Amino acid sequence: MAKTAQLTFNGQTYELPIIEGSENETAIDISELLEKTGLVTLDIGYKNTGATKSAITFLDGDHGILRYRGYGIEDLAEKSTFLEVAYLLIFGELPTTEQLKKFTRDITTHTLVHEDIKKILDGFPSTSHPMGVLASLFCAQTAFYPESLDPNRSAEGVYLSIVRSLAKMPTFAAWSYKNAVGHPVNYPDNSLDYCSRFLKMMFALPAEHYEVDPVVANALDKLLILHADHEQNCSTSTVRIVGSSKASIYSSISAGINALWGPLHGGANQEVIVMLEAIRQDGGNIEKWINKAKDKNDPFRLMGFGHRVYKNFDPRAKIIKKAADDVLNKLGINDPVLDIAMKLEEVALRDPYFIERKLYPNVDFYSGIIYRALGIPVDMFTVMFAMGRLPGWIAQWKELRENKEPIGRPRQVYVGTKSRPYVEIAKR
Ligand code: ACO
Repeated sequence: MAKTAQLTFNGQTYELPIIEGSENETAIDISELLEKTGLVTLDIGYKNTGATKSAITFLDGDHGILRYRGYGIEDLAEKSTFLEVAYLLIFGELPTTEQLKKFTRDITTHTLVHEDIKKILDGFPSTSHPMGVLASLFCAQTAFYPESLDPNRSAEGVYLSIVRSLAKMPTFAAWSYKNAVGHPVNYPDNSLDYCSRFLKMMFALPAEHYEVDPVVANALDKLLILHADHEQNCSTSTVRIVGSSKASIYSSISAGINALWGPLHGGANQEVIVMLEAIRQDGGNIEKWINKAKDKNDPFRLMGFGHRVYKNFDPRAKIIKKAADDVLNKLGINDPVLDIAMKLEEVALRDPYFIERKLYPNVDFYSGIIYRALGIPVDMFTVMFAMGRLPGWIAQWKELRENKEPIGRPRQVYVGTKSRPYVEIAKR
């Protein structure tokens, strides 16, 4: 017999269906609650609201588990590549050699962006944050590929938009940086792999020879895998909700880029380095900063700590911490902020404030340290995150479309002034 939950309201009992996921997650289906009872549910910040049924990513915050399409993040980070993971997320299965070859070839042939996009880029002052530039250039693709606006686009058309998104993202990302430093842009070198191509566009200068360091390219590939999807977080939910209005893939993802920008989401990796630098310049007094984070009258929070879902540990943080150590060793870099980060983590994890609230380092705590070692400037950290998250956003947008989900439209409980007569300005 199908399971139900009972709700009693105003002396009447209602049966609500129970939905079970493939990993035994159990949910009460309230989709007919309003119709049956006149009640809406209230859950500010969607802390316990399932907005969709998704087959892409499984996350168990209590046990620190993260899987893409059933594959553990640890295995993927160690054995796979970013484009293979992108294929997995978007199409549901790991590609065969032939499928991956074709996918890579398709992406490689679309890396160039329309020359007129450079004119848009030229309109941005060099003071522009690269995230704003990235979101704008990404959305501008709707102008260059107006067929993408068709909500009933064929599967081939959607595939082309997906390939274009993945192909042009590193070009936009590198150009957003070139704009910030006032350098001429570099065009994509299609003889290189995905990450090396990005690195060359980002770092090569016209007057100098630039050779991509494979240690740097491999570390970047791993970071992108770790960021590739994370189920219904703030930016992904934004992509899905914008996509649910049948907006194009480019505008939906551009909205996701904007959502990711905030310091409580993807912007945290930038804030972590700012914080670690401030602690270093302040003499490295860890206790003082821990106390600041605990003080409710002080707005300071330990950036890179805490997570809405992970209440045990963030599996990505474990992998990144080790990768940070490896990369710094391989590149022969001794970054004093790594020591500060490790001390900060050690002290926080022993402190009852952090223990009681289940606050652990998240993915952003160590990722900034690797980015810094790779030579990526702080303002570009969130752009790197966006580059990594792109396959996840695409997969979620595609799933929503294929499942023919309705437009996203939450309810509210109105707490404002009741109806009142209009007062003429002279009488106010
Ligand atoms: N430093 C100090 N205290 C914290 C921190 C922190 N980093 N994070 C949470 N807390 C405290 C809160 O003050 C609150 O305390 P209280 O119960 O005494 O009021 C309690 O822990 C619960 O915090 P909430 O903000 O309610 O938790 P929520 O799930 O809403 O927020 C979030 C999660 C936004 C990640 C939060 O932990 C935070 O601000 N962390 C710092 C920013 C950060 O690292 N963001 C990146 C997240 S990962 C990502 O997006 C990729």
